[in-house]
Amino acid sequence: MQILENYSLRELNTFGFEAAARYFVEVHSAEEVLEALRFVQHHDLPLLLLGEGSNVILADDIAGLVLKLGNAGIEVVGDDEHSVTLRIGAGQNWHQLVCWCLAQGYYGLENLSLIPGSVGAAPVQNIGAYGVELKDVFHSLEAVDCQKHELVTLNRADCLFGYRESLFKGGGRGRYIICHVNLTLSTVPEANTQYGAIADELGRRGLEETPQSVSEVVCQLRRSKLPDPTEIGNAGSFFKNPVINNHHCEALKQQFPGLVAYPEAQGFSKLAAGWLIEQCGWKGVREAHVGVHEQQALVLVNYGAGTAEELLALAARIRTSVQERFGVILEMEPTIYPG
Ligand code: EPU
Repeated sequence: MQILENYSLRELNTFGFEAAARYFVEVHSAEEVLEALRFVQHHDLPLLLLGEGSNVILADDIAGLVLKLGNAGIEVVGDDEHSVTLRIGAGQNWHQLVCWCLAQGYYGLENLSLIPGSVGAAPVQNIGAYGVELKDVFHSLEAVDCQKHELVTLNRADCLFGYRESLFKGGGRGRYIICHVNLTLSTVPEANTQYGAIADELGRRGLEETPQSVSEVVCQLRRSKLPDPTEIGNAGSFFKNPVINNHHCEALKQQFPGLVAYPEAQGFSKLAAGWLIEQCGWKGVREAHVGVHEQQALVLVNYGAGTAEELLALAARIRTSVQERFGVILEMEPTIYPG
């Protein structure tokens, strides 16, 4: 295990912001994670865990140790007649996992095709797209508990998954370092086409409803709307879709008949934040080196030379205008470091 000093993180965050880590280490096992923990304790340093940096905003240099999990790899650890359980290293690239599973005939991840980032980061915000969330296929995970200094196993209930939420973003923030994730997938080739846009696109292209065709359509939809982070810096959706009570939603619908809203449980509705932002005139707006994506108003981008400061200032203006016009508060999705 080699601890590097004054390490540039520019390549390790998909916004491409320049920030340096006082110390940086890539680890490949729980034992190495524990060793890194001893290092930060000994030197009284903060610890920051980074996956592929696809959901973070590095707003400044990191005065502590940045730890990256480098353990990739997938093993089958259980199976029965209709399912298989996989144990996956936290450093495994997510989309490569999706492709591997499809090739093996393990189904359930197709709708989550092409999501950037690592497997270890997936539970943190309970990644979700096109009608599926990680929690739907999640079995358990193994993590180093930084309070107890030991490896623990957490099951689905322990992880407190919600929409773009989990224990790891909430009460357990900073406490766990996820080393392996276990998923249970189906061996029955059933496609999940409940999300309207997928069914529409399959129909339009005359494709059969198979896990493969769903993956293909999801990749195509994502490529058409979302900028490729290797070309234009971004972190996918910049804000969560806000959830408001139905009373507020009805009042908004009266005033704005085009409002895009989806029913949620227990008297709530989820609004399309992209629609709210577009209505405020932000879609495609560029300010200095940052801007709002032309195809998807929910995605903020760094055109190259932008800074986190510029981006956060733009985000603040967007939030204010949405709040003034619709009385809705947008919550940021990526995490800002240092926190
Ligand atoms: N819309 C607009 N203008 C825009 C963007 C969207 O009017 O500029 C409206 C349209 O009516 C559109 C609707 O919003 O039909 C929904 O848009 P889209 O299908 O693009 O989905 P989203 O709600 O904006 C969410 C996730 C995405 C995920 C897609 C597909 C969040 C915060 N984002 O976006 O996740 O890929 O659904 O399921 O929930 C991510 O988290 O980084 C991400 C990309």
